[in-house]
Amino acid sequence: LSQIEVKLADIPEGKNVTFKWRGKPLFVRHRTEKEIAAEEAVNIGELRDPQHDKERVQNPKWVIVLGVCTHLGCVPIANAGDYGGYYCPCHGSHYDASGRIRKGPAPLNLEVPYYEFPDEDTVVVG
Ligand code: FES
Repeated sequence: LSQIEVKLADIPEGKNVTFKWRGKPLFVRHRTEKEIAAEEAVNIGELRDPQHDKERVQNPKWVIVLGVCTHLGCVPIANAGDYGGYYCPCHGSHYDASGRIRKGPAPLNLEVPYYEFPDEDTVVVG
């Protein structure tokens, strides 16, 4: 299927759930208020791939990204690494809780796919 529908009520705050979409891992992360505040406050001038958190999310509670490291394509681990977002164990790339690359060899932020929220409990990706 080219689209995937995810029920958001099944994902507790602070958790990242991995789905499979178009043969790739898809991360859906329910951020905490603390994570939202921290990511919105990041100075984008310090970023390798400068993007404000607001450019990466439609609703600040939900981060929806491909679980594919932009270095060589490994699957990062959620809630790990120096920035608390994702950590790629293959060569040590650290991403924040917006999926932005912060440290290590990966050149780009985790990719944000096209998605929509048809209602407040559902996201459709693709
Ligand atoms: Fe993720 Fe190399 S593939 S750091």
